[in-house]
Amino acid sequence: MCICVIDRENMFISWFEFFLLLAIFVSGIFAVRKLSRIVFRKYRVSLFATRVQRMNELLSSLYGNEENPYYVSLHFREEHHIDGEQFTYGEILPSSFAQLLNLTSPVAGEIFYDLGCGSGKAVFCAPLCFPFLKAKGVELLPPLFEYCSKLKNQFMQLVTENKYFKKNVPSVEFFQGDLLNVDFSDGNIFFLNATCFRDDDWNNLIKKLSALPVGVRVIIVTRHLENEAFELIETGTYSMSWGFSSVFIYRKTR
Ligand SMILES: C[S@@+](CC[C@H](N)C(=O)[O-])C[C@H]1O[C@@H](n2cnc3c(N)ncnc32)[C@H](O)[C@@H]1O
Repeated sequence: MCICVIDRENMFISWFEFFLLLAIFVSGIFAVRKLSRIVFRKYRVSLFATRVQRMNELLSSLYGNEENPYYVSLHFREEHHIDGEQFTYGEILPSSFAQLLNLTSPVAGEIFYDLGCGSGKAVFCAPLCFPFLKAKGVELLPPLFEYCSKLKNQFMQLVTENKYFKKNVPSVEFFQGDLLNVDFSDGNIFFLNATCFRDDDWNNLIKKLSALPVGVRVIIVTRHLENEAFELIETGTYSMSWGFSSVFIYRKTR
């Protein structure tokens, strides 16, 4: 009788201890998981910050001695009496653009397009910051297209000499033409600095964009993409060469 009571008490204590230990063990696992996620996120953020800094350094030396593209565009338009407001020049700031692009979650192997690429800054910036298979730019004005083409050779040289980027030399391409006539159906992420686009061009461009496959992301400066196939995924105010502008990021959902 006496032995039996002692056993029960022992049993009770050992079960209690077991559940206590189990609770400590499980909460320990959750705490370690949470902590490792925080550490991993911080590590990724610092890796990205380093990459953006290196990209900035490379683009500063690439553009450092070049003529200001604003004047390249302006002089050509004055000389040829081109006065369409869609050619008004302004451009991205690379660090700010890298943050924007990050919001589209680029996946390795995707293709980036800047439609109306100007001096090509966004095209050079994109594959330095993310593992794009290719970055392509389309520009209508000949001197700006020539500007990008000339810089492309210098860019390839700078990248192959750069310790940080030379392992994955990015592929960039430029096309001269009207963005409404170019086949960009292989693209996954598009950038449209559309502040000055004409309304009729804009509507035609939306028709072209809505023929693209589901999953495509579109970053647009100033304008809204009013089409039921696209869902707004992010919006914010970002720094551009002329000041702050509203930016809208869409994903094609159907
Ligand atoms: C505001 S700038 C933006 C440059 C560049 N995307 C950036 O943000 O750094 C717009 C550019 O689009 C070009 N553009 C305007 N209409 C175009 C068209 N129909 N086809 C191709 N390029 C065009 C202009 O010449 C200009 O260089």
